[in-house]
Amino acid sequence: MSESSTRLVTAVIVVAAGSGQRLGYGMPKAAVPLGGEPILMHALRGIVASGVASQVCVALPAGDQGLRQLCDDFREELADGGPLLTIVDGGSTRADSVRAGIAALMDGIEAVLVHDAARALTPESVFHRVSDALAAGAAAVIPALPVVDTVKTVAATTGDDTAFAPEVVTGTARREELRAVQTPQGFTIGTLLQAHQAAQDLDQQQATAVTDDAMLVEMLGTPVHAVRGSTQSLKITTPLDLIFAEGLLEGPLGARWVEG
Ligand code: CTP
Ligand code: MG
Repeated sequence: MSESSTRLVTAVIVVAAGSGQRLGYGMPKAAVPLGGEPILMHALRGIVASGVASQVCVALPAGDQGLRQLCDDFREELADGGPLLTIVDGGSTRADSVRAGIAALMDGIEAVLVHDAARALTPESVFHRVSDALAAGAAAVIPALPVVDTVKTVAATTGDDTAFAPEVVTGTARREELRAVQTPQGFTIGTLLQAHQAAQDLDQQQATAVTDDAMLVEMLGTPVHAVRGSTQSLKITTPLDLIFAEGLLEGPLGARWVEG
């Protein structure tokens, strides 16, 4: 993008309403401690520090008083001139939580970044790259990284990819054409509204197959642009991811380590 592009008036929708089954802490993942603070706090601090947001809209598990209090306290911490912090009840799927966030956007928002609270350590640079690409004219932008593993397709024996059984390999994907996709995913407001509107018409099976917001935009036929993500932006999903995230904060590289 050109240096002179002006950033669009931007909201970040933080989806934090998941239950964290795979992490297995018996509490919502957003509340699980990381480096002594709930995962959600790391995500919120990173977003605010990036300076891209005029509004931060957090979708929380419905009725979770602890996380609501945490957000209320964080709101007090925000300096004058900081973003508006809005709290909404999330839904039963991630897409429902995104839609709850969309419904609470303030007037005048031109672009929306949808971000997983679970990507608590996303560096500011990633927010900037996504936001800058929107300012330069893209309608949809995703952070992405090359894939390090060789990826095979298989004749899946079950619909459940956690119940791994021996299966037949049907091919090998061309790795140079593959990207692992992260959040924040950025959209112009019109594109995001149109995409989630169209999503309402999908049947149950199609809806389940939609794993990110960009996929809905692809279905509209609107081009989606990829910018560089960051390995630091890992999605904390399993206990091993939490150990890795703790290591990023406390290990020899320390909290100041930032992979751009
Ligand atoms: N999310 C959400 N609302 C849901 C489901 C997920 O806001 N109904 C959010 C999660 O809080 C998370 C992000 O979407 O920040 C990505 O989801 P995932 O990593 O799958 O988190 P969980 O659904 O909480 O984890 P699990 O699938 O292991 O239960
Ligand atoms: Mg989930």
